[in-house]
Amino acid sequence: MEMRISPSILNCDFSDLRGELDKIKNADWAHVDVMDNHFVPNLSLGLPVVESISRVSPIPIDCHLMIENPDVWAPQYVDAGAKSVTFHAEAVTAPLRLARELRAQGARAGIALRPATPIEPLIDILDEFDMILIMTVEPGFGGQKFISSMMNKLRKTREAVNKSGLDVWIQVDGGISRDTIALAAESGADTFVAGSAVYKSDDAFAEVETLRSLAQAHHHV
Ligand code: DX5
Ligand code: ZN
Repeated sequence: MEMRISPSILNCDFSDLRGELDKIKNADWAHVDVMDNHFVPNLSLGLPVVESISRVSPIPIDCHLMIENPDVWAPQYVDAGAKSVTFHAEAVTAPLRLARELRAQGARAGIALRPATPIEPLIDILDEFDMILIMTVEPGFGGQKFISSMMNKLRKTREAVNKSGLDVWIQVDGGISRDTIALAAESGADTFVAGSAVYKSDDAFAEVETLRSLAQAHHHV
């Protein structure tokens, strides 16, 4: 199984986004956290910034929309250059219609679950999505502690994806580091977001390599 690393730029130096993206050119994706101060109590960046960085990023942009009304906003992130757009199950009105729209635009469609949102309602419609994001913190801020009780949801998701035979990626986001990535990989994740672990290290490039090796060594069977 291929293991993918998608560093979150939320805690990078926003005065030098191009330079910060260049540091992680060995990563598979650049995870861009969009927050609207309504769905989560924090405000980060929006369409104009995504539009600018998608033009200079050496790797594709994986947009995580922590916003209300993604039905209206998400397609605009594809127009802005994101190759993968993930919206929250708790915020969306018509998840199937939206995922189909994103795919028709040529992007990957992801659906994200807050820690208290169950996976079961999605089990019969996995084919509608390219990625399921299992949040391992309450969304809103970087640098929070990994919630290990999410591993049960992760295992259930992996079991359902394997049973379906579909190539749906399973992403984890929140508190992923050298200390937690093995457990997340063993529990079934194949796509790993790491914000502070990558950008607070002295060498972001090397940290991406280390995290990917750890994930590969502990991948779910
Ligand atoms: C949290 C964001 C995450 C976060 C990850 O709301 O969705 O992507 O920035 O940061 P760390 O890895 O520091 O938890
Ligand atoms: Zn995120």
